[in-house]
Amino acid sequence: MRILVTGATGTLGRAVVPVLVREGFEVRALSRTRRESGGEVEWMWGDLISGSGVPDAVRGADAVVHLATSGRKGRGAVDLPGTRMLLTALREAGVPHLLFTSVVGADRAATGYLKYKLEAERLIAESGPGWTVLRATPFHQWLDQRLRDFESLPVLPVDRSVPWQPVHTREVAARIAGLLAAGPAGTDIEFGGPQVIDTEELVKTWLRARGLRRPCVSVRFPGRLYAAQRAGDLLTDATPKGEITWHDYLFPPPPEPSDDFATEHTASPTSPANQPELDPDLHVYGGDEGYERPTRS
Ligand SMILES: NC(=O)c1ccc[n+]([C@@H]2O[C@H](COP(=O)([O-])OP(=O)(O)OC[C@H]3O[C@@H](n4cnc5c(N)ncnc54)[C@H](OP(=O)(O)O)[C@@H]3O)[C@@H](O)[C@H]2O)c1
Repeated sequence: MRILVTGATGTLGRAVVPVLVREGFEVRALSRTRRESGGEVEWMWGDLISGSGVPDAVRGADAVVHLATSGRKGRGAVDLPGTRMLLTALREAGVPHLLFTSVVGADRAATGYLKYKLEAERLIAESGPGWTVLRATPFHQWLDQRLRDFESLPVLPVDRSVPWQPVHTREVAARIAGLLAAGPAGTDIEFGGPQVIDTEELVKTWLRARGLRRPCVSVRFPGRLYAAQRAGDLLTDATPKGEITWHDYLFPPPPEPSDDFATEHTASPTSPANQPELDPDLHVYGGDEGYERPTRS
């Protein structure tokens, strides 16, 4: 089965591509940067906003995993016009299945970035080809990056009333592989991490793991999105769920010898197998749209 992955270089894409290869899918990966195909991944150049390269990328695919996003600062540019562009190309090429990743709570708290995700879900549901929408909770890797953005602050603001259910991208990737094999499933599929923790625990565990000492000040995060999060709208009870906790992610056990030794050492330098877990040159999902500075509680 040949799968095109949009957003293959992103936080989730870097986990999805190797998982799909390992599961025996033929993987084609889309990026706006020209990359050499190598190993088991065929890289295609394309831009979902201009549409350049998209028809060639979708041609011959049995399914598309659509992970590309312009993030919170991008005002839906990829999630909406980009998704529309992709849907047109899918229809023309007769691709039977589109799997789109959204965010848990998009249907309950359609504000800021989540509003674009919900609108994109609707576009997909009305589009024609078979589809699956997988809503995930925030990724460990994304939260880690957001906390790094605050690392230079002398004091870290925490709101104990705001819960998180972080999930590991590798487990989201495995869920995606299972959904691809099962075929179009529609919506209402949620996938979250194994634990719900409050912001203080999240931040303090992170500080410990990174060897940092910062006082935390108790605040109330403002805004509609945090209100929804406080009310539990961005959490899910759905099963299956991830097993890797925030603590496991931050304090991983020492690596065991990889059974992927051959792949890791024979793939081209641009292959995802050889990409670092966190590539500093790649922008990460997130940003400050809808984020307001916290006030003291
Ligand atoms: N991050 C989270 O915590 C989280 C939680 C739940 C759900 N999600 C969802 O999971 C999906 C993946 O998120 P992510 O965090 O992995 O995203 P990300 O790290 O921000 O990656 C964005 C990707 O989109 C691609 N892209 C951006 N503009 C593009 C364009 N004009 N044309 C083609 N590709 C473009 C980028 O590829 P190039 O730069 O190589 O072109 C990059 O690979 C998104 O749908 C997101 O809403 C994320």
